[in-house]
Amino acid sequence: MAEPVLKWAGGKRQLLSAIRARFPAAFDDYHEPFLGGGAVFFDLDAGGGTVNDTNPRLVNFYRTVRDRPEELIARLRRFDDPEGEPDPDLAFSTEDWAGDPVDSYYYQQRARFNRRAYGDGDWPGDGTERVEEAALLLYLNRTCYNGLYRENGRGGFNVPVGRYADPDWVRADRIRAAGDALARTEIRNDDFEYVLDAAEAGDLVYLDPPYEPLSATADFAEYSAEGFDRADQRRLLEAVEALDDAGVDFVLSNSGVMFEPYDEAGFDVEREGATRSINSDERARGEVDEILATNIDRERRARPRQASIGDF
Ligand SMILES: C[S@@+](CC[C@H](N)C(=O)[O-])C[C@H]1O[C@@H](n2cnc3c(N)ncnc32)[C@H](O)[C@@H]1O
Repeated sequence: MAEPVLKWAGGKRQLLSAIRARFPAAFDDYHEPFLGGGAVFFDLDAGGGTVNDTNPRLVNFYRTVRDRPEELIARLRRFDDPEGEPDPDLAFSTEDWAGDPVDSYYYQQRARFNRRAYGDGDWPGDGTERVEEAALLLYLNRTCYNGLYRENGRGGFNVPVGRYADPDWVRADRIRAAGDALARTEIRNDDFEYVLDAAEAGDLVYLDPPYEPLSATADFAEYSAEGFDRADQRRLLEAVEALDDAGVDFVLSNSGVMFEPYDEAGFDVEREGATRSINSDERARGEVDEILATNIDRERRARPRQASIGDF
């Protein structure tokens, strides 16, 4: 079993067993159109199928993990302590592109990462550039405050440095295991609707969209500059109805406010409480209302994994 390499907003580790409990006992290919950190995909260790995300940096990252894991690991080993001095041999060692002072190694790497988003048209360029891009994403993800990937309106990564006693941004075994898990998987950079063509009868699709916000302040839909609005939520419901018509099994997670539309469409919907692990606002941590919707009958579901003998 592989494990996620990146910490990602909306990560599904806490809902993992509730999601897996709804999966059918058997299926052909597996598809995950909103991959993010991929907690479910890596837990499943599926064979063929597709994974997808609209975020091009995330897609470049997973392609690098799959196709060039050793180059990625070697590059990661050359990064320095985030709170150390900037590297005088690299760009932005004294100030960033906006002229703001850069006072530590972390902020220098963040400036390099952000500069790349506004680079030449064929970003991220050739193979070496792609490894550099992927390495920067993982380094920043592991050393930034709260491990929260967040972009501002212009697509810039603006999270401050984290304070970790012993940051570890390499984790070579985890990268290799993730690369093996992705080996037989097509990695796409599309809108989720690609899955209507990619999935066939007998396949399984797990969908984890940016959640419809519970309130204006709990805006979990801010994963990337694009966002995901009401019209996207409607397209998504229509997409799972089309999957259902085509004989494709699906499980979908969403926020509690989406209970009724899925219930009215005739799917099996249940509420699940989950604790948000990524939220910089302490008061907003805690139980949030989530739903799981599926077209998979209870009789067809896999039997729950047996508890370990140590639990008795
Ligand atoms: C809730 S996160 C997925 C979290 C993931 N299940 C995990 O465990 O980390 C949603 C993802 O959907 C992506 N996304 C946003 N709009 C999309 C769209 N229209 N089609 C496909 N992916 C999209 C975002 O970039 C984000 O990575």
